[in-house]
Amino acid sequence: MSLDKLINDRKIIAVICNQFGDTGKGKYTDYFASHWADVIARGTGGNNAGHTIILNGEEKIFHLLPAGITYDADGKTTILGNGMVIDLKSLNEELDELDQQSMSYNNLKISKDAHVVFPYHIEKDRANTSQENGGIGSTGRGIGPCYTDKIARRGITMGDLFDRQRLIRKLERSATHYPDQELDPEQIANSLEPFSERIKPFVADTVSEMHRFINQGKKVLLEGAQGLLISIEHGTYPFVTSSDCSLSGTATGVGLSARDVDLPLGIIKFPFMTRVGAGPFPTEIGGRDSESYCAKGLEHDIFYEAKEYLGMQIDLNEIRELQANGNSEALAEKRVGVVDHIRSSKDTLLDLANTESATSPIIQGAAMRLLAGEYGATTARPRRIGWTDAIAARYARRINGPYFILTKPDCLENIDEFRICTGYRNGNDTTEFRKDEQSLRTVAPTYTSHKGYGNVRNVKEFENLPPSLKNAIVDFDKFTEGETLIVSTGPESEQTIVK
Ligand code: IMP
Repeated sequence: MSLDKLINDRKIIAVICNQFGDTGKGKYTDYFASHWADVIARGTGGNNAGHTIILNGEEKIFHLLPAGITYDADGKTTILGNGMVIDLKSLNEELDELDQQSMSYNNLKISKDAHVVFPYHIEKDRANTSQENGGIGSTGRGIGPCYTDKIARRGITMGDLFDRQRLIRKLERSATHYPDQELDPEQIANSLEPFSERIKPFVADTVSEMHRFINQGKKVLLEGAQGLLISIEHGTYPFVTSSDCSLSGTATGVGLSARDVDLPLGIIKFPFMTRVGAGPFPTEIGGRDSESYCAKGLEHDIFYEAKEYLGMQIDLNEIRELQANGNSEALAEKRVGVVDHIRSSKDTLLDLANTESATSPIIQGAAMRLLAGEYGATTARPRRIGWTDAIAARYARRINGPYFILTKPDCLENIDEFRICTGYRNGNDTTEFRKDEQSLRTVAPTYTSHKGYGNVRNVKEFENLPPSLKNAIVDFDKFTEGETLIVSTGPESEQTIVK
């Protein structure tokens, strides 16, 4: 079946992540936005998310605006929903990018009920949750403190920004909750005014608008953020983000019910998965050592790993200086060179990544990370690497619905062997996912091993996938009681198998 046939008659499609985030939603949200949707909406999180958008051939990383914004000129509406938290400066920077590329955003709508991330939220987040300070390793974007204020019923919404007196009153109240920061409400309001004035025309009652669109028969794409296993409700609490990024949280975050969604698609990286930040990850290659290694963040970034494991000539002092100065253009250029080198070093990396020939789990993980380019879009941190966990996927299936998109098998083409976790040993064997840290930290995963596979990038039919990969997917569906509908076999939209 073709992708278009799968989506054509649907009314509301959601693309959400069934793991710890970063599963490659962008490819499909972009396809659905361009080929199918009239309205593209995000319902949770803020600029802790990150996705690459191609603007006039140039790669840009966006954090708040859904990928669908690039189809504004085609009359498509983009919504930042009521469940989101919005950093005005970050949003304005994304709008600047669009201006620079002469791209329109006339149909952008920002919920009046979304909460505003203020500089004092960011300050508090960085002080309390950075991994260096023993915290959970947040992205440092102020997300947790902003949602904390929302739940404590003292948050400030987008709608509040346009009533100066109310805003000052609320900021004065906030000041009492951030005593370490000596907040000056007038100064905060003045410094944000240019940003809020610019976006004023876009702020709206997006829930009513959403209901109106649906009554008009418009097709709606819900673009998830983060992933189920870091949802505040269902994730590995307290190592989670502060929003409910499940299917239902995403729907609520735009004013809909999960039952309205007629095609929920939960994304799963296969046969490896990743996590950024601290927290339990049973199948992690290298376990706690890998967690500590990746917690070093930029110290172990792509430049370090390419130098360390591939012997590339890289002046790390120069790179650190560029990073410290925020020179993103020069860094992007350097990164292109590194990525080219990685591409031409596949055989060396496979040797390091193969379980039999790997000299240590840290190096095996690093080699898989280099092969798959698993470095954070938002923070550039190395992502922790492990084999796909079918127990966690079944748990996610129970919450996010039965349909899967599997992504990135192409990254491990030609690996000798791959594994899927189908059991946890902890005294007694179990196949249940218990999300508390104690349970997940103490289980020893047991795996089903599969022979490696060759080229998948050019395969168009599920039946033509290499047998070991095809059988592993069939087993995975059986085990999780889910149904893989789509397998992504490369970055291009044509590299898609619809089962
Ligand atoms: P926060 O969302 O910045 O508060 O971070 C809380 C946790 O969620 C940290 O472990 C982050 O690394 C993780 N996290 C937040 N956003 C993302 C994302 O978009 N992808 C993957 N992990 C994320």
